[in-house]
Amino acid sequence: MGAYLSGRAALAGIMGWPVGHSLSPRLHGFWLREHRIDGAYVPLAVAPDRLEQALRALPAMGFRGANLTIPHKEPALAAVDRITPAAARAGAVNTVIVERDGLLGDNTDGYGFMANLAASAPAWHAADGPAVLLGAGGAARAIAIALIDAGAPELRLVNRTLTRAEALAAQLADVAHERDTVLTVLPWQDRHALSGACLLVNTTSLGMAGQPPLELDLAALPARALVTDIVYSPLETGLLATARARGHAVVDGLGMLLHQARPGFRAWFGVDPEVSDALRATVLAGLG
Ligand code: ATR
Repeated sequence: MGAYLSGRAALAGIMGWPVGHSLSPRLHGFWLREHRIDGAYVPLAVAPDRLEQALRALPAMGFRGANLTIPHKEPALAAVDRITPAAARAGAVNTVIVERDGLLGDNTDGYGFMANLAASAPAWHAADGPAVLLGAGGAARAIAIALIDAGAPELRLVNRTLTRAEALAAQLADVAHERDTVLTVLPWQDRHALSGACLLVNTTSLGMAGQPPLELDLAALPARALVTDIVYSPLETGLLATARARGHAVVDGLGMLLHQARPGFRAWFGVDPEVSDALRATVLAGLG
């Protein structure tokens, strides 16, 4: 921070409950300083029952928009005026843009996931082979759609609660059918069945600081497979450390957070920002 804002400063922020641990103010703050933009990006602690009120106040307060995090991403679908196809397919809104005639809800998580892999593992391509997704929450849905769009021939959905994985498969069925992607649902005890996979993604909270470790046997995973985790605290999760030791290419989860932020910044502040090493270092310092 430090810079004074003019009366015309461009404003955006992140709505969450709680929102105190969000790294987004640090992330967008870096880009605002880097581009010497007269603007600010602030944390907005919005209680679940006040989301609609808070969203409606954005234009009145001169905000260009906001990011949304837990627990607002799904409820926001019904609280904005229009949603993009990406938000409709993801079933969640993470980026709101104030437009002249209302609020637009977008979802950039799938974009962030793919852009991170493209930047960090350029030799990998979704069409190379089956992808195994651990988890069936909101993050898994956005990532699954992105992988289907990118041409993954097969997705294996593995989740502790099998019915959630089945529900996710049902939601993805039409998109997968259009793209000729085979969807398979596997019970949690079969998560070690990784043969033939070219991508392994952990979208569960296992391995996150304060959560239980992810217990996974990588013996069956082909050597060429890329391993990635959406957990970024710690940056090198147990899964990534084990995969790295076995010689797999690995991509950490911080890059997805950085890349998903780009479309919002561009829409609110008019500059397409870069994901640089300096940005990574600044955001990492916020992990404490
Ligand atoms: P998000 O929307 O961010 O993906 P979520 O909906 O809470 O978050 O999903 C968390 C994921 O982590 C789920 O797939 C959850 O499995 P369940 O659907 O069975 O709840 C998974 N998860 C959390 N704790 C777990 C544990 N101890 N063992 C296995 N999976 C776990």
